[in-house]
Amino acid sequence: MKLGIIGTGNVGAALCKSLTRKGYRVMIGSRSLEKATALAGQMEHYAQGGTIANAIHFGEIIILAIPYKAVEETLRNTDSLRGKIIIDCTNPFIFGEKVELALGHTTSAAEQIQRMVPEARVVKAFNTATARQMEHGPFFGPSDGSMFYCGDDADAKSAVAKLIEATGFIPIDCGALENARLLEPMALMLVRLAFTQGMGDDIAFKLLTRD
Ligand SMILES: NC(=O)c1ccc[n+]([C@@H]2O[C@H](COP(=O)([O-])OP(=O)(O)OC[C@H]3O[C@@H](n4cnc5c(N)ncnc54)[C@H](OP(=O)(O)O)[C@@H]3O)[C@@H](O)[C@H]2O)c1
Repeated sequence: MKLGIIGTGNVGAALCKSLTRKGYRVMIGSRSLEKATALAGQMEHYAQGGTIANAIHFGEIIILAIPYKAVEETLRNTDSLRGKIIIDCTNPFIFGEKVELALGHTTSAAEQIQRMVPEARVVKAFNTATARQMEHGPFFGPSDGSMFYCGDDADAKSAVAKLIEATGFIPIDCGALENARLLEPMALMLVRLAFTQGMGDDIAFKLLTRD
């Protein structure tokens, strides 16, 4: 499975590192070709750098690792995403005195993105963990962190569950894309725990289940 990652920030770089480590073919796409090429060159395992259009063309799965507010403009200027899987890692945060959610309750970033690109299959994932855990794996002694994901297309969700496993998280199927309305507030809680409550970013959510 070929992956196109959009965004060269914390999440884009972390997922590029962890997924190339697992043998995935990855192209990381940026508004700046130089930036993407430089980041790809810093990976321990082979990755390619490209423009955003290059990465979208390359990937069967496209990982959106950009600010939510930049998504509409980014996807407007791209080739067709028909049939592709989009992993929406975004959180619709507003950064002020406190971090807040820009939307919720009746919709979510993931549902808005699905409306922007109805020809693609959006799966919400990787928004409820820190980039640090995405890079190094959520390994806390005998317990591994959970990764919650949701979407409306069963095949897209199984492909994303495999990627989640590759990063070391235990995938937790949270049902329909509409449930992104609940996953995005969880991400805000994670940020508040990490930064307001002072726990730092070496934390992860874990769902306990009885086998
Ligand atoms: N950091 C975390 O721990 C974490 C965890 C879970 C989810 N998330 C979510 O994942 C997304 C990415 O987070 P991040 O921490 O990786 O962010 P970041 O470090 O700020 O990087 C975001 C990247 O998006 C690209 N971008 C495209 N359009 C942009 C624009 N108009 N303004 C700014 N950047 C733009 C930039 O890459 P180019 O310059 O190469 O185009 C930039 O490096 C966000 O939606 C965030 O809420 C973050």
